[in-house]
Amino acid sequence: MTTPHAWPELRGIAYGGDYNPEQWSRETWREDVVLMREAGVNLVSVGIFSWALVEVAEGEFDFSWLDELLDLLHENGVHVDLGTPTASPPAWFFAKHPDAHVIDRDGRTMGFGSRGMASHSSAAYREAIVRYADALATRYAKHPAVVLWHVHNEYGVPVGEDYSPQSVNAFRGWLQEKYATLDGLNSAWGTAFWGQHYTAWEHIGAPAAAPSVVNPAQRLDFARFTDHQLRACYIAERDAIRVHADQPITTNFMANQSWTTDLWAWGREVDIVSDDHYLWAPDEDAHIGLSIAADLSRSVGGGKPWILMEHSTSAVNWQPRNIAKRPGEMARNSLTHFGRGADAILFFQWRAGRSGAEKFHSAMLPHAGTNSRVFREVAQLGGDLGRLEEVQGSTVEADVAILWDFESFWAQDLEWRPTDDISHQERIRAYYERLWRDGITVDFALPGQDLSQYKLVVAPAQYMLTAADAENLTRYVADGGTLLVSYFSAVVDENDAVHPGGFLAPLRDVLGVDVEEHLPLRAGATAGVALGGGELLGADHWQEALRLHGADVFGRYSQGPAAGEPAITRNTHGDGTAWYVSTRLDADSLKTLMNAVYADAGVSTEGLPEGLEVITRHGADASYRIAVNHNEQDAVLAADGHELLSDTEVQGSFTVPAGGVAVIRTTK
Ligand code: GAL
Repeated sequence: MTTPHAWPELRGIAYGGDYNPEQWSRETWREDVVLMREAGVNLVSVGIFSWALVEVAEGEFDFSWLDELLDLLHENGVHVDLGTPTASPPAWFFAKHPDAHVIDRDGRTMGFGSRGMASHSSAAYREAIVRYADALATRYAKHPAVVLWHVHNEYGVPVGEDYSPQSVNAFRGWLQEKYATLDGLNSAWGTAFWGQHYTAWEHIGAPAAAPSVVNPAQRLDFARFTDHQLRACYIAERDAIRVHADQPITTNFMANQSWTTDLWAWGREVDIVSDDHYLWAPDEDAHIGLSIAADLSRSVGGGKPWILMEHSTSAVNWQPRNIAKRPGEMARNSLTHFGRGADAILFFQWRAGRSGAEKFHSAMLPHAGTNSRVFREVAQLGGDLGRLEEVQGSTVEADVAILWDFESFWAQDLEWRPTDDISHQERIRAYYERLWRDGITVDFALPGQDLSQYKLVVAPAQYMLTAADAENLTRYVADGGTLLVSYFSAVVDENDAVHPGGFLAPLRDVLGVDVEEHLPLRAGATAGVALGGGELLGADHWQEALRLHGADVFGRYSQGPAAGEPAITRNTHGDGTAWYVSTRLDADSLKTLMNAVYADAGVSTEGLPEGLEVITRHGADASYRIAVNHNEQDAVLAADGHELLSDTEVQGSFTVPAGGVAVIRTTK
């Protein structure tokens, strides 16, 4: 854990993006700073892929162009988020240290000519990244342009796991530290199964491709080890910088778009959280996935400031079909991040690059130049964010938490599950989307953390649940909380071993129910749930045979293998209530269910117009309602105060234009 380093130099909401001037002439640099000023840009991320152009040979640094660049930016009032380019080691590095290449699960050595390709466990790589971070911070710690340090780029992608000999060796060391004895490891991994019992540490390997499914506990530990090694690389760089520099240090996460890093652990190691988010084009409501990313970024920081480090002004270039953003969409996306707590709105990247793999990616300054819709919207947004200075540092509060546990996701994603149809992402999105449509702001949380501040905790996908975490959830309900648990939860312990007593056993007391048998359905089969009042809820793909231990039945299966049996239960436990939902309800049906759950929890819904997203940020003297209208029609929001973007008084209501945004201040 680091001491918090505040956000000292920048007042207001920072605006800008990745800047890669090494791809351009000096003349272009001079044009860039003029246009940056025009667009309201006050922060750029520099040097993220510049290793080969700064450390030109091992230990030989040429800072001349970076000196010139930082001075130019500073003279033009643009602050710098200075990157360490360790996601992209130079050709000379690999020529000298060929062992530092990553080897993938199938035994393929990853080649050069791309990025993100060094072994996290290579001693040469570790030495090189610390040398670079130290040299960079020595040079620029006191440079007036530098307000933030940006370590590496998106740890864990495009490769996280490494099956090279040095990684296997490090894995053994990590296991010895964790288990101390081979007996401990054999028991945790259940190696009696399929005769995998180990008699020497040197016999243990990484879970590389094998004739059949590899021991899931071994794979889970390898995922934990990978996360640990990546974080050790980050910490090594961070500490090298910290020796010289006082500015905050961060590394860019990909909240809900990457799964190799446990962001709860990473959140403790950064001074401010930063996130990269890109819309997923096949999702027609991708702005809801974006909201998940923003809420998760805020949550993993546990109260630290967070910033949007990257998003796109329009299309990306790496999806099967890269859909351009429609007019106003970039501003809506930005205001959603801002509303959910982001204190900077940054993009990949400032100027569209002519060469290389990303030339079809949108930018703040597109290939079409300034006479373009994108640049006009970029400049407009820069002006708008300039009007929101007073909102910086204000916070977002939530009554509801959704459990988000990376370790459980890693375990659930392994092979040979009861059906391929279960997806933690899908279930989290379904419950989140219900809450989003009901206008309820959520935090994400771990099952073991203090949950007492929440009226409602939802566990859409808690496949793995430790006994201690189950006790925590039980206590939360006993103390008056409302808990909702969805199917295929509390199935295994931390070693991916089924709980003694069977599925759901650790939550049996609090839920008043457990699971006798999983009953997955054939593709396309449905599983309706009939409620007491006669209403029929739509569900599919999964049922469970439940055994009641005191819970009331809220709904029974109307068809399928469990027809006539309990599907949804409700149990009072101590001062609280706990719900269990043993099937996949569709979005409409979740509304009926959640209305009953909200009533138990005392959570109120605001009754907003459909498609109008409203989030509140709380400051010391005022609160701010950020409204994002995703509709093609105007939407009316009941409000009093002052709308900051249009600088108008609001009495009673404010009309948010079709596809538009508003920020309404209410003085306390
Ligand atoms: C990010 C990455 C950027 C850029 C961007 C394109 O994941 O950090 O460097 O590649 O994707 O969308």
